[in-house]
Amino acid sequence: MLNKGNLNDLSNVIFHVRENDDWKVVHLDQLMDDKKIVIFGLPGAFTPTCSTQQLPGFEAMYDQFIESGVDEIYCTSVNDTFVMNAWFESQGIEKVKPLADGCGDLARSLGMLVKKDNLGFGLRSWRYAMLVVNGTVELFCPEPNLTDDAQEDPYGNSSPAEMLTEVQVTLRELGLDDSVEEVPSVDLDSTEENV
Ligand code: BEZ
Repeated sequence: MLNKGNLNDLSNVIFHVRENDDWKVVHLDQLMDDKKIVIFGLPGAFTPTCSTQQLPGFEAMYDQFIESGVDEIYCTSVNDTFVMNAWFESQGIEKVKPLADGCGDLARSLGMLVKKDNLGFGLRSWRYAMLVVNGTVELFCPEPNLTDDAQEDPYGNSSPAEMLTEVQVTLRELGLDDSVEEVPSVDLDSTEENV
């Protein structure tokens, strides 16, 4: 699977998901196949910026992403599926989908896995957002200054507002922008008659 920016192969990444009191294995491959998806990664469920800004922000702007041609938006964190599901429920999230990356495989594949031992968190995801078109990462927006045991988690590039602008530009460049209105066709015959 081709990924721009020398990102590692994502095709073997899987997620263990708890749905309706049952286990399910979700293959990232299947989510990406023939789709334009946005995935944003954040350092932790129930943490302040993630809960008050990033997750509710993507939920609030979900329809604008869809209108721009995006098929689905996923939120991923190095947390288990029970934690992610409880967080989404507590936030009343209905549109953005959770992707519990409990083992950090997706974050590691993207070079986004960092230590947060200074906060007692262990391994977590650096904050980022990306647009994946049919399995190819076309746009990758990590926050700056990626580092282990960071004192601060920057938040800007991967915000929904920044991401929407970048996604629209990227889809337009790729000729995949659904928001461009079709130009009505002109009936040349009837136009000539009216001259
Ligand atoms: C936050 O989202 O505010 C946050 C994330 C990781 C650690 C501490 C806070």
